[in-house]
Amino acid sequence: MQGVTKTGKAFPNLPYSAVIIDSTYSRLLYAARQCFSFHTQTNRAAYLRQLQELWCPDFNPNPVLPCLCVRTAFDLFLQVKNFPEGSELIMTAINIRDMSLLVQHHKLRVVPVDMDVDTLEPDISLMERLITQRTVAVLVAHLYGRVINMEPVLALAEKHNLVVIEDCAECFAGFSHLGDPRSDISLFSFGIIKFSTSFGGGVAKVRDHKVYKKMLALHKQYPVQTCSMYLKKILKYIPLYSILHVWPFPTMVQKSREMGVDWKDTFVSFLRGFPNNMIQNIRYQPSSPLLAVMAKVQSEFDPADIAVQRIKCEYFLSNLPPCLKVVGTKSQVNHFWLFPVVVDKPDLFIACLAAMGVDAYRGATQLNYIEPDGPNVPLGPPLPEQQALPPLTPEERYPYRCRELISHVVYMPVNRYVPFYMLEQMARVCRIVMLSLEGIKLHGSEQMAVETCRTIKSRL
Ligand SMILES: Cc1ncc(COP(=O)(O)O)c(C=O)c1O
Repeated sequence: MQGVTKTGKAFPNLPYSAVIIDSTYSRLLYAARQCFSFHTQTNRAAYLRQLQELWCPDFNPNPVLPCLCVRTAFDLFLQVKNFPEGSELIMTAINIRDMSLLVQHHKLRVVPVDMDVDTLEPDISLMERLITQRTVAVLVAHLYGRVINMEPVLALAEKHNLVVIEDCAECFAGFSHLGDPRSDISLFSFGIIKFSTSFGGGVAKVRDHKVYKKMLALHKQYPVQTCSMYLKKILKYIPLYSILHVWPFPTMVQKSREMGVDWKDTFVSFLRGFPNNMIQNIRYQPSSPLLAVMAKVQSEFDPADIAVQRIKCEYFLSNLPPCLKVVGTKSQVNHFWLFPVVVDKPDLFIACLAAMGVDAYRGATQLNYIEPDGPNVPLGPPLPEQQALPPLTPEERYPYRCRELISHVVYMPVNRYVPFYMLEQMARVCRIVMLSLEGIKLHGSEQMAVETCRTIKSRL
C-alpha cells in the first residue's frame, strides 16, 4: 500500500527530539576517565597547544583562549575593556538571558536591535540609529547554526569606532569558520547541546594582543575547575545521552509521552548550566580533563557530520509545505544546528504534531528576546550627524520581530540521525497538521484540529 512504512503503519511515532547530544558513549567514558587520570602541567600545556594549533590557521591568526564557557570569556573581555559606567552596548535582540545579565553586571546599558526572521541579521539601519555618543560596542549572535553576513556590522562599527563582539556560541561547524578576524572577539561554545560538545568549554578568539594578554592574566588568577566539578556534569549527561540516543530509551520515553507523561522539561532543566550565582560559577579556569576532551573532540572533528546534518535538514525543508515558515532560510550560511519554525499557535501546532507522533518542542533552548533596558529612558546624546533627526520613540526601538519569533517558535525534531524516509513522513505530517489548522476556520474548534490529526493517524 502506498505511503505505508516498514512497520505497517502510515504514520508510526518518530522517536526523535529537537535537540541532540553530538557525542558518543565512548567520548563520555573518555571524559569520565580523564577525571580520574593524573594530569601534569606538561599535559595541560600540550592540550592548550593542540587547541592553539587548531584555532590559529593562517586565515585567522587571532590568539585563542580556551575557557570554561562563552560567558567566562565574555565576562573577562568586559572586565578588561572596562567601559565607562552607563555606556551602551547594542545587542541583537535574541540571546540567552545570561549574556545580557553580564552586560548589566558590568554596569552597561543593553540596547537590543531587532532582527530579520529570514536572514537572522540585525536591522542595520535601526542599528545605526541606535548608536549614540555613549555606544561602545555591538554584539551580534549567529543563531541556530546560521552564519550571518558580518560585513555591514563591521563597516558600521568601523565608521563609529565601536567594538565588535561576535557570539558564535551556536554556529561552530568546523575550522573553516572561526569568526571574522576583524571582530574584536569571537566566542564559541561547546556546551552539552552544541555541535562537537565537550560537555562544557568555550573558545574565544581575540583580535587585539594587548587585550588578549590582559584577559589571559586575569584568567590565570581564577581557580581551576576541579575534576569532581567536571565529573559531576559527565555523570549527569550519561543517562541523558542514553535517553536521547540509545535504543530502547528514546522509544520508552516516547511511549510514556503517549501515556501522558512528558519528561522533556525535566530533561531540559537537567541540561542547564549554572542555574544560580552565574558570575561566581563562570569565574573558573577549565579543568585539565575538560581541556583534554576539548582537544580530543575538536581534533577528531569530521566535516561529514555537519554535511549530513545540513543535507537532511535541507531535504526536510524542501519537502515542507510553503505555508510553514522556517526561520533563517535566507542566512548567508546555514549549518542547521536547530530547525526552528514559526507558527501562529505554537502550542496547538505541537499538540497536533504530537497527535501524529512527532515530538516538536518550544523550550529546546534558553534563547529569549531582549527587552530594552529602561525602555522609556532616552538613550545617550545623539551623534552630531543625527542631531537633526527626531529621537527614536520607545516603539521604534522595541524588537517586535524578535519578540514575535520567540513567542511563536517551535523546534522540529530534525537532525542527522533521522532517516530520510522519516523526514519525508515528518514533512507529510506537517502538511496534514497545517491543513487541520486551516480547518479551524471552518469548524472553529482547536480541539477538533488535534482530534482530526489523531483520527488520521489511527485510521491509516
Ligand atoms: C547565543 C548564545 N550565546 C551565548 C551562550 C553561552 O554559552 P556558554 O554556555 O558556553 O556560556 C549560548 C549558550 O547556550 C548561546 O546559545
